[in-house]
Amino acid sequence: MNIILVGFMASGKSTVGKILSKKHNLKFVDTDSLIERKFNKRIKDIFKENGENFFRCAEHNIISSDLKYCTDCIISTGGGMPCFYNNMDCLKKIGWVVYLKCDFETIKQRVKRGTRPLFENEGAAYNLFVQRLKCYEKSHFEIDASKDLSKVVLEIERIMKS
Ligand code: S3P
Repeated sequence: MNIILVGFMASGKSTVGKILSKKHNLKFVDTDSLIERKFNKRIKDIFKENGENFFRCAEHNIISSDLKYCTDCIISTGGGMPCFYNNMDCLKKIGWVVYLKCDFETIKQRVKRGTRPLFENEGAAYNLFVQRLKCYEKSHFEIDASKDLSKVVLEIERIMKS
């Protein structure tokens, strides 16, 4: 069964996903990297040159193309992925969706400035954070990801064993 990590930007999805995949010898799939490879462009350039709608469409298509063929993978999704189209329902059909829940203060500290087009302005990012909570909460599981990420790894391992 796939484990699909969702949550706001900088909540630890990629970090935790890479640790889990290494430890359990499972394939790691990162939806942002798939899109970057497909268009041979960084996410921030896709946003700048093609616009957000184009990116959301590409993100949606990734589910029915690449992700559909994943089995026993650790999948890290872009922060907005579950909140557009019927993506959350689609994701829930292909694996256990785990929400890494993080408070905004922790996110602010973790975020690397300049790499995320939707985190250029802190106020706007906070509004987005609040708006998206309801969507993330539809996940199968919810884990407090504000704490040490090694503890988050342990909690996901518990889910994997169940
Ligand atoms: C986005 C999050 C980013 C990336 C894009 C849009 C979002 O991924 O997909 O910049 O809408 O929250 P991370 O969650 O890995 O930062």
